[in-house]
Amino acid sequence: MAEILAAGEALERALALLQGGDVVAIPTETVYGLAGDATNGIGVARIFEAKGRPRFNPLIAHVADMAMAERIAVFDPLSRKLALAFWPGPLTLVLPQRPGNGIHPLVTAGLDTIALRMPRGFGGDLIAKLGRPLAAPSANSSGKISATTAQAVAADLGARIKLVVDGGATPVGLESTIVKAEDGRLRLLRPGGIAAGEIETQIGMEMLRGGAAGVEAPGMLASHYAPGAAVRLNAGTVGKDEALLAFGSQRAEGWHHAAAFLNLSETGDLREAASNLFAYMQQLDRSGAPTIAVEKVPFEGLGEAINDRLSRAAAPRDNTQPKT
Ligand code: TXA
Ligand code: MG
Repeated sequence: MAEILAAGEALERALALLQGGDVVAIPTETVYGLAGDATNGIGVARIFEAKGRPRFNPLIAHVADMAMAERIAVFDPLSRKLALAFWPGPLTLVLPQRPGNGIHPLVTAGLDTIALRMPRGFGGDLIAKLGRPLAAPSANSSGKISATTAQAVAADLGARIKLVVDGGATPVGLESTIVKAEDGRLRLLRPGGIAAGEIETQIGMEMLRGGAAGVEAPGMLASHYAPGAAVRLNAGTVGKDEALLAFGSQRAEGWHHAAAFLNLSETGDLREAASNLFAYMQQLDRSGAPTIAVEKVPFEGLGEAINDRLSRAAAPRDNTQPKT
C-alpha cells in the first residue's frame, strides 16, 4: 500500500522516487495528480500503467516557472498573456512544442503540441527542486472521478503506487481549464477551474467552443468521471431509493425521503460547489443508492465546468471510447 506523507515532510522522498523513474501522487490546487518525470519514458509509462489508461492519451506537463515553460513550448502573444495573468493556477495552455525540449514523446502521444500548466503549492516546489517538468494526469483510475483528497487517491491507486503526498483537500476541486490558441483566437478545449468568462475578460474576446480540429482532449469524451451509480441530472423530484446531490436553497420535491443527501453549496456559491463536486459524488456513490439525482446547477461562471463534469458522469457507460 502507498505511504501517505504530509506535504511538509514529503519533498525528499517524492524527489527520490521521481529521480528513480517512479510515480508519486501529489496535491495541486485543482485535483490530485499522478506525477512522473516528463523527460523519463519509464516514469511516464508507469503513469499510464497505474491509471489503467486504455490508450496513450496526451498528458499535461507541469512547470515551475516561465523559463521552464519557454524551454518546452513556443508561446504566441495571447497564450503568454494568459500565462502571465493566471499562472500559477488552474489554466492549461496547449502550445507548439519547442524542438529538442527533452519531453518524452509518450507525454504528448507523439503530437507536436504540448499541454502546459504551472500548478500552485507542493507541485510547484517539487518541480522546481527536480528541475524538470512533471507529467501528471488526474490521480484516479481511468474513467473514474478525479480525486480531491489524498485518502481518495490512496483508496483508488494505493495498491499500485508507493507514495501519496497529502496536501489536504484541493481548493479548486475541478481540473484545469484547457485552452489553445488558433490563428489569433482561443479555443476552449475543456471548461475547468477558471471560468471561461474570466479568460475572455482578460483577452477581450470570446473563445471558440467545441472540439478543435484533430485531437480532442479525452476529457471531452462522453462517458467520463463516472461513479458506480447512475446519474440523473436536473432533478425536480427525488425517488425514495435515490441519493440527492443538491445545490442552493431550493429543494427538489421528495428530498427528505432521499436515500442520501448532500448539498454542493447551500448558499448557491459555484466555487464552493466546484470544490465539493467530486468528493460528494464519491460519497453519495458509497451510499449504495442505485441512482444519484442531481439538482439543477446554473451554467454561469464555474457552473459551465460543473455541468460539463455532471453531464459526463450521467452519460451512457456502454461506449467503447477511451477514457482518461
Ligand atoms: O487540473 C488538471 O488539469 C489536472 C492536474 C493534475 O493538473 N490534470 C488533468 O490531467 O486533468 P488529465 O490527464 O486528466 O487531463 C489532461 C487533458 C486530457 O483531456 C488530454 O487529452 C488533454 O489534457 N491534452 C493533453 N495534451 C494535449 C494536446 N497536446 N492537445 C489537446 N489536448 C491535450
Ligand atoms: Mg483525468
